[in-house]
Amino acid sequence: MNASPEPAVGRTQDAFYSRASIVSLPLITRAQGIRMWDEAGKEYIDASCGPMVSCLGHGNERVIEAMAAQARQLDYAFTLVARNRPNAALAGRLSRLAGPGYERVTFASGGSEAMDRTLQFARQFAVATGAPSRRAIITLEPSYHGGTIAAAAISGDQSRSPFFQGFAQVSDTVPAPMPYRRPEGMSVEEQEGASAAALERKIAELGAENVLAFVIEPIGGISRGAVVPTAGYMRAIRDICTRHGVLLIFDEIITGVGRTGPFFAMHRWPDARPDILVLAKALGGGYAPIGATLAPAGMVDRVAELTGFEFAYSYNAHPIACAAALAVLDEIEERQLLENAAHRSVQLETGLKALLGRFAFLGDLRGRGLYRAVEMVRDRKTKVMLPQEFRPTERMRNHALAQGLMVYARTTSQGRYGHWFTHAPALTTTEAECSEILSRLERALTGFEDELSAAGLLVRQAAEARS
Ligand SMILES: Cc1ncc(COP(=O)(O)O)c(C=O)c1O
Repeated sequence: MNASPEPAVGRTQDAFYSRASIVSLPLITRAQGIRMWDEAGKEYIDASCGPMVSCLGHGNERVIEAMAAQARQLDYAFTLVARNRPNAALAGRLSRLAGPGYERVTFASGGSEAMDRTLQFARQFAVATGAPSRRAIITLEPSYHGGTIAAAAISGDQSRSPFFQGFAQVSDTVPAPMPYRRPEGMSVEEQEGASAAALERKIAELGAENVLAFVIEPIGGISRGAVVPTAGYMRAIRDICTRHGVLLIFDEIITGVGRTGPFFAMHRWPDARPDILVLAKALGGGYAPIGATLAPAGMVDRVAELTGFEFAYSYNAHPIACAAALAVLDEIEERQLLENAAHRSVQLETGLKALLGRFAFLGDLRGRGLYRAVEMVRDRKTKVMLPQEFRPTERMRNHALAQGLMVYARTTSQGRYGHWFTHAPALTTTEAECSEILSRLERALTGFEDELSAAGLLVRQAAEARS
């Protein structure tokens, strides 16, 4: 692994204010396809597209060409003084992909900013339509919705909310269904039912007339590790929101653009559509920072008519970012990448299941499509977690890096809900590449298992399972 010396002045972004990480991040100088190389020439496979971003892999000529051509023709046009074609084309394209009910699209420079803008829009809709008392936002605990102050303050993370109390609009939370750790004797549906009932109680407690929106990641993101809900739960929350006039907002920042199978995760639940949909990450494929909010014409046009909505950022709907996103969509469509991803998803799931059979410290496998999370535990039988002081996800990432594999694993809520790592390879991943990912992962897990054993964290039953 490549530990570049840190200059005393002008340290890198990751060292700006983080407590010392035990992960030694490689200094990457080149990338192509699903591979990256550090300055010493060591090669890595990026098995999670960074944080589920680089859906086409790196160095995609079509996207690069589209960006270069756009930059030559029109590099910039500010949305409040001029229109640009890539903006209009991308809005139309996303709206068509989403289907009826999502006719209006506004762009931002990433997921956090798109979430921030979505909240502003939702609030303005309430004010403009005579419901100014609607301000409360309800989210799941745990959840993650971004890093701007507004998006971070509505993220369900008990360890962070004291920071935002009195400083920003902190969300009210209800317990997220966490099926792997549901109480003894409770079915998945019962746990989900309890979560939905908690939502209804929370709305009653706050007063429905004060609740603006319920914001969720339809398939759990980093904070829940790819938890997939049942259709019954999705219908239940949709009904509750409808009954109380609460907007249902889907944060599809991870799950959008084919990550979990369909282009949007929401298409899995036709009778539980959100009022507003938020996208980012893979939309720009890592080539350009872009996020999007999709909403019904009825809502947006109403606000436009009553009060107008003019919260612009200098860089939103940037022509080069929109051109990049259009090229990403062209690639996905013309190369039938969702079909490829469906095949790889089966291969990945089969391979990960085999690893669960081999390593007893792997407790659970979750997710859909090319978005999978593997939960690591101290004891599979009791589901006892690994100690947070051991920093399991960071250690796991070190073993992966040593084997030339980048996996995304971040502990949220200070490890209160467990430790997992994600596998989310590019939609372009070939069968051979997927096999390579799985064999590098197996070697990484073997190294991690040895470290667990040396630290006395492998329970007898786990050690036996290996032999
Ligand atoms: C579910 C979810 N929402 C929002 C965000 C924030 O997006 P961005 O990092 O593009 O600002 C993330 C980022 O990880 C996310 O996972």
